Amino acid sequence: MNLYDRIPNNVNLSEDKKLQRALEKWLPNYLDWWREMGPDGFQDKDVWLRTAVDVGSEGWAHFDYVKMPDYRWGIFLEPPQPDAIVGFGDNYGRPAYQEVPGEFRNALRRIIVTQGDTEPASVEQQRQLGKTCPSLYDLRNLFQVNVEEGRHLWAMVYLLHGYFGRDGRDEADALLERRSGNPDKPRILEAFNQPCDDWLNFFAFTMFTDRDGKYQLSALAESGFEPLARTCQFMLTEEAHHMFVGDTGLGRVVRRTAQLMKEGDVRDLGGIPLDIIQKYINFWFSYSLDLFGGEISSNSADFFAAGLKGRYKEREQYTDHLATNENFTMTVVEDGQLKTREVPLRNALNELLRTEYVKDCEKGLARWNKVLADEGARERLHLPHPRFHRHVGEFAGHTFDIEGNLISREEFERRKDEWLPTMEDREYVRSLMHPVYEQGKIANWIAPPAAGIKGKPFEFEYVRL
Ligand SMILES: [Fe+2]
Ligand SMILES: [Fe+2]
Repeated sequence: MNLYDRIPNNVNLSEDKKLQRALEKWLPNYLDWWREMGPDGFQDKDVWLRTAVDVGSEGWAHFDYVKMPDYRWGIFLEPPQPDAIVGFGDNYGRPAYQEVPGEFRNALRRIIVTQGDTEPASVEQQRQLGKTCPSLYDLRNLFQVNVEEGRHLWAMVYLLHGYFGRDGRDEADALLERRSGNPDKPRILEAFNQPCDDWLNFFAFTMFTDRDGKYQLSALAESGFEPLARTCQFMLTEEAHHMFVGDTGLGRVVRRTAQLMKEGDVRDLGGIPLDIIQKYINFWFSYSLDLFGGEISSNSADFFAAGLKGRYKEREQYTDHLATNENFTMTVVEDGQLKTREVPLRNALNELLRTEYVKDCEKGLARWNKVLADEGARERLHLPHPRFHRHVGEFAGHTFDIEGNLISREEFERRKDEWLPTMEDREYVRSLMHPVYEQGKIANWIAPPAAGIKGKPFEFEYVRL
């Protein structure tokens, strides 16, 4: 791999002239999008970033100062497995698809476009945050996440260009045309149209919404369409850092809040009260749950049957890869009441993946609650019930309290300010967001990280301003 290729890659791009030309044509449009919708300001600054240069477990990344528009967005796939098979579904055991099977073409394109659309969307949502960063360390992490989401877009665009011909090229163009939050041409999924305009939002987003990404990518990393599986496997390596940013970022806010609670009123002291943190958790957790799709879903059954989208750790966790004989007991709303219903397992795979996700989120909450305990606070943070504040699936159109009890819309409206950030909460959080650009300094509402990046101290000049 030549790091200085125009499009760094490990897919022998130079041997596929047609694909190379198509991607080189897309590149300037991508850069236009990046300049217009990527981080506002800072484009000419040196940022200490990691760049993917290989897929090996050792030394896959290179750390150095880079100006973001010069970042080497590349195409990296995990190496092919010899004798790869379709790992589940009706074609279980057959050779993995190296080309798009005709009958699954539309479904596969939809999966790739939906995943691809989230990548530039999050960059758009976060584009103003550099102006209010709590430290240079955080500023660098924000930009690291942003450039890697840009690379993830490249990864999906590679698949569209490489395997879907003309309509793939059109979809790749459309990925640069939609805009997060724009009512005329919104991004596909709702969580990616929500504003992410303060750092508490950013940390909650990278904790909960990037974590949805982890589960979607994990399910696609099992795909029988091998180029997709190999692409997603490598994206997961980068995704881990995004969740780290969210998880530790929120943990640092919690720590600072707990410290201030010992000194007096958190608001008077310029911190973020715990109840506001809880409301941000409620907001992003519930929107992120929606990203898994309906609880009972014929799409999920079709994708599984086709061998396109598996369960979480399908190969590792399961022995029965057909999933034809089992049922899943699901809670649904029927005649205004919560009831249970048996559904074929294949129709419940979204819910299964969501359940894995919730378990993972709970571990994050346990880490933050340990921070509270360490700082001597008695209060604890919680995940809301998965039925709370849903806009997709069985529970959309019904209203629940934070514990998941069915309540009337009137009661929800009356009480929602207890559970979700109010205008006033958001304004208060925004009022704290003043940039801290000095090396080694940090904003008052957040604690410094336990360690810097890649052995560098917190005081390191992560961004040269
Ligand atoms: Fe991503
Ligand atoms: Fe991410």
